[in-house]
Formats: sequence, C-alpha cells, structure tokens
Amino acid sequence: MTIQTIHSTPFDDQRPGTSGLRKKVRVFEQPHYLANFVQAVFDAIDGIAGKTLVLGGDGRFFNDTAIQIIARMAAAQGCARLIIGQGGILSTPAASHVIRKRGADGGLILSASHNPAGPEEDFGIKYNIANGGPAPEKITEAIYARSRTINSYRILDSVDLDLMQIGNTALGGCAVEIIDPVADYADLMRHLFDFAAIRALFDGGFTMRFDAMNAVTGPYAKAIIEDQLGALPGTVMNAVPLPDFGGGHPDPNLVHAEELVGLMFSSSSPSFGAASDGDGDRNMILGHNFFVTPSDSLAVLAANAHHTPGYRQGIRGVARSMPTSQAADRVADTLGVECHETPTGWKFFGNLLDAGKVTLCGEESFGTGSDHVREKDGLWAVLFWLNLIASRRESVEQIVRGHWRRFGRNYYTRHDYEGVDASLAKAVMTQLKDRQNGLVGQTLAGGTVAYADDFSYTDPVDGSVSTGQGLRFGFEDGSRIVYRLSGTGTVGATLRVYIERYEPDPERHDLDTQSALADLIELADELGDLRNAIARDQPDVIT
Ligand code: G1P
Ligand code: ZN
Repeated sequence: MTIQTIHSTPFDDQRPGTSGLRKKVRVFEQPHYLANFVQAVFDAIDGIAGKTLVLGGDGRFFNDTAIQIIARMAAAQGCARLIIGQGGILSTPAASHVIRKRGADGGLILSASHNPAGPEEDFGIKYNIANGGPAPEKITEAIYARSRTINSYRILDSVDLDLMQIGNTALGGCAVEIIDPVADYADLMRHLFDFAAIRALFDGGFTMRFDAMNAVTGPYAKAIIEDQLGALPGTVMNAVPLPDFGGGHPDPNLVHAEELVGLMFSSSSPSFGAASDGDGDRNMILGHNFFVTPSDSLAVLAANAHHTPGYRQGIRGVARSMPTSQAADRVADTLGVECHETPTGWKFFGNLLDAGKVTLCGEESFGTGSDHVREKDGLWAVLFWLNLIASRRESVEQIVRGHWRRFGRNYYTRHDYEGVDASLAKAVMTQLKDRQNGLVGQTLAGGTVAYADDFSYTDPVDGSVSTGQGLRFGFEDGSRIVYRLSGTGTVGATLRVYIERYEPDPERHDLDTQSALADLIELADELGDLRNAIARDQPDVIT
C-alpha cells in the first residue's frame, strides 16, 4: 500500500453552515471535493496523526463511498485508530456517544440530517470534537479558511474496507474497529430511563408507533423499543434505512411525517406517536389527536426530569436556542436553575453542557437533548416521554395540559419560506433591520415594543461572541416575532419567521395556534413586507 499525494485546487464554497458542510451529492461527487474538505478538517485540527477518529453516517446515498475515502485519507496521515459503525452507520447522537465513551479525539459524521437523500439530493459532513459535539465556530472557520488554500491531499492506495464485518482489522498502520452501531447507545439509554417501568407499560397493552422514516433510527428503535422494551412487532414503521430514505423527506414534523400524523389523528390511533429524522437527532412527539410543540416538549421534560432515573437528582439548568419559545424559561425560573438563550445550532450548547451549567437543551426545530451526549437526540426524547407516561400514568395530552395549567401556555409557530431568491431574502433582512431603528416604545398590533435588535451571543464559558443571529421584535407582554435565514439549505435561501405569545389564562388554552397568533402573524407579514418583497402569500411549511 502506498501513500499518494494528489494535487487539487481549492473550492470556494466549503464553509460549514449551521450543521457542517451540506451540498448536493453531485457537488460532493466532483473530483477532489470531499477529499479537499476532509484534508482541510485534518489540517485545521493539527493533523490526525496518532489520533482516534469515529466515523459513521445516516446511511444515505454516497455514505459508504465517503467513508472509504475518509478512512484511506486518515490511514495515510498516521491516524492511530478508526472506529466505524457497521455498514458505515451511526446515528448522530450515537456517534457523539461513541466519541465520548471511547475517548476518541473526534469524529466525522456523514449526514445532511432530514434533507432528502439520493443521487440528485443532499449529502453532508460534519466534524465533531472530543466532547462529542459539533466543532465550535472557531474550528469550522479554520476549516473553511484552510479549504480555500488547499492544493493537495494524502490518501492510501488500498482496497475498500469491509464495513459489514464487525471486529478489528487494519488499514495500513491504522487499527480499524467496526462496531455494532446500536449497542453502546442502547446501554446508555438503559441507564438513563426506567426500562422496567416502560416495559410494564407495554405489557399492560399500551400502544405506540415510531416512524423511522426509512432513515437511520430504524435499527436503533427496533432494538430498543421492540426488542428491549417489549412493544409489539411493527411498532416501528419505515424501519429499514434506505439510501434514498424511500424517496421521502425524513423531517419529523406535521407536514413531512404525514403517515404517522394521519394515524395519530384518527380513531384507530395508538396512545403515543413519535418520529425521528434522517440522522436520528430530531424528534416529534404526538398523543392521540395531540401534537406537542418541541418548545413545549423541552419545558415538559425540564419540569418532569426527576421522574427518570438519569435525572432524578434534578437538572442544573436549561438552554434553548433564541427562536425557541420561552416556555422552558418559566420552568427554569420555578425550579430556580440557570436558563440560557443561545444562537440557533447545537454547537452553542457544548460549552454550557461541558461546564455543567445546563443539563437539558432544546430547539424549536424538533431538537431536544441533554448532557448525556453533545448532540440533540431523537430516540432519547421519545424514551424520556415514555418514561414520563409510565411513571405519571397520564396520557401525552394530560401531561401537556397539566403543564400549561401550572406554567401558562406559550402559543408558538414557525413559518418557513423556502427556495427564496438569496438576494431577495437578504433584502428582506436589511429592510427589517432598518425598521428596527426607533421602534422601542411604539405600539404595534396593540402591543408595546420592548426591544428590537439583531441577536448576538457572548458565550459565558469562553467569552466568544456570535453576531447576526436573527432579528428580534419583542413586546412587553413577552410576545415575539423573530426572523432569520436558514444556514442548512442547499438551494436558494429559506426565510424563517418565528412567532410566539404567552397565555397564562387556562380558559384560553384551547385555541388553534394559528388563530391564537393571527394578529402577530399578520404583523410579521407586514413588517417584512413579505407579499411584495418575496412575492409569497403564504409560507411553504408551517410548524
Ligand atoms: C435548522 C434548525 C436548527 C437546527 C439545524 C440542524 O437550522 O433551524 O435549529 O439546529 O437545522 O438540525 P437552520 O436551517 O435554521 O439554520
Ligand atoms: Zn438531524
């Protein structure tokens, strides 16, 4: 086996976004495109020599090709040990756990999350650091800077690894271990949650459906929910991970998980419904005829954490991304624990978790997690809910309604305008920023503006500052409208508008969300002048 040095020229579009580098598969398939980026990662972290690297992905098209290339590059550059999920599979939270448990120096996770997969669809790659979490901006920016100057990479000339064979092998001088992608993760879940109580729940006839959406969580959910917890066979639907995710869009929300949603809102509904996304880090929680917003889910988990073995001692604090509703803040306040508001993206939670400042964190975008790993974790959230249902002996709806009665309800919605011309989307943001001048104290839609700004965040642990994280229009009664541009899309721009209102009165907890927020929604359209500026009458996706 020889080490080859391949000459290449830099690509100028390799800046990692909210969650790594995401592009069309066709872009990644260009000669040297993936290898250049991987070399930029290795260079940005001072090389891979002598290090241990975890490697795995969501199984989408190009996953296996990419793994072979990365493994040969790592081996050529002195990597001591590669730990790879069997078949190249590792869900994002499982990869985070393996990095932590095995004391690896980092990992490369291959995924474009919930974006569709297949030869004409999306692929992605993300570097996670030794704490198991996504690399912070300092590193992603260094990767980007390096990608712009790179002119060669080193790769081993060898045959492909057999990714199916669990056990130890070698690639040149690099030890390679192919691991069961589920085992370590399932062990961790067994320590956090009361498996005996959940098992008793299923033994008593409790029914659920988990939609794996033909993506990575199928094997995890089958092993844990059906085999270990005793749910009926067939509880996990769309359980086989397919390279094109069955042609679907594995984003667990009311729009894309329509089969599951249809079932849960029908008379033949099971008691509990849940889904996860392409790479297993997102979750959606449903009861019979009942949808739990991710923001509420975070608040409910925070208020009830003491019901689970893993969090019996209580939580140290909660963190949520800025656009996530303020429901969790009220719980933190009552519990007397810290509450942090961070920019969008899981990477901002890492320092808070490492420093022991928070135990739970979440985002409105169907992401919840804790200090058990450094990624959000879809199946973890589902098991947490199962544990709550088992120990409180209440339905999903009863748990959430009880929560609202105690803390009040934060009506919340997100409106997404997708595939918008990037320059028009930018112009909307510029216009909105201009409108913020002198707005404080004025009355809009019957509310007094308390603040109007562009969110920036100073990390309380390392002092790093992130600016330009979303335009906020906040009112004195706690209502908010937030605008930001997505950092995960691969085509054009996606404008996200987040709208929220707090309602303390239990008599008013039964309203339809869009109606409860109608005046703020109208104001949001008007402030952004969306009908004129991007020629859209209504959003593409409402969550
Ligand atoms: C989206 C979500 C964000 C999440 C990210 C990765 O990013 O909004 O909360 O962390 O996906 O799952 P965005 O496209 O908004 O930049
Ligand atoms: Zn994901």
